[in-house]
Amino acid sequence: MSRPTQPDHPATGGGRLQIPVWDWSVRLFHWALVLLIAAAWATAEAGVDYMHWHMRCGYAVLTLLLFRLLWGLVGSGSARFCGFLRGPRAVLAYARAWFSHEPQHYLGHNPLGGWMVIVLLLLVGVQAGTGLFANDDIFNEGPLARLVSGDTSDFMTTIHKVNFNLLLAAVGLHVTAVLLYLLRGENLLRAMFNGRKPAGDYLDRPGPPAPAWRAVLCLALAGAAVWALVTLPG
Ligand code: HEM
Ligand code: HEM
Repeated sequence: MSRPTQPDHPATGGGRLQIPVWDWSVRLFHWALVLLIAAAWATAEAGVDYMHWHMRCGYAVLTLLLFRLLWGLVGSGSARFCGFLRGPRAVLAYARAWFSHEPQHYLGHNPLGGWMVIVLLLLVGVQAGTGLFANDDIFNEGPLARLVSGDTSDFMTTIHKVNFNLLLAAVGLHVTAVLLYLLRGENLLRAMFNGRKPAGDYLDRPGPPAPAWRAVLCLALAGAAVWALVTLPG
């Protein structure tokens, strides 16, 4: 992706020229993840009768997560971990600029936001991973619970419950950050819907988008891995 030369400042969001940043797979991944986590929460609260739906939501979340890990390695430029994970110096410089009200502008994830993405993915991974070994003391257990002792399964269940609160806190922080950017005139949310940001003078230059077939292949691989994980032990 070539560096934009348009004079519109990215913070204004008013420029008519828009440049692509998030491809359809990142956007679909994000909003499907949000819906499935909400559904997993609702079905967990709805009681034992809905536990099989809870587990299905969990498998779908796990599939999305594996997809995103693959996409972070071989996907579009703005989705690649090596593109948006930056060292402590860049993170500090970004934070300092933000607090001194002279923010740096990034087209893809900024240095602070990039690490927040990793925190969110890790928490989602722990949530879905521990669920596989969890039990509800009555009728239901994750598909891998029988591979470990009862004590280990109980421990995983405890982590499953505690981690969910951490995940909620992280999501709260994530949404607060998005709103703060909005107050400062930078609409990150719109870009997560339409995939584009106003042209401007950004500090990063994400690589080109990857072909759609590669996203489909990554999703198929992720789905097959989860299917194997869930069905083979039984
Ligand atoms: C990211 C996806 C997931 C989320 C957000 C999630 C969330 C939750 C929540 C909020 C609870 C209720 C805890 C409580 O009663 O206080 C729960 C319970 C449970 N979850 Fe998950 N879960 C996820 C994935 C999974 C997966 C993949 C499995 C297994 C295949 C699973 C199995 C269980 C079991 C067996 C319980 C019952 C624990 C109990 O009531 O003692 N979960 N989950
Ligand atoms: C379960 C709740 C949520 C989770 C787990 C979550 C997770 C994530 C993740 C992993 C990313 C990185 C996307 C990628 O590179 O693939 C992201 C980005 C983003 N999310 Fe969320 N999200 C959640 C809810 C929300 C909500 C409710 C909003 C709306 C306010 C939102 C707005 C955004 C935006 C605007 C970005 C792009 C940030 C940027 O420009 O760097 N998210 N989210």
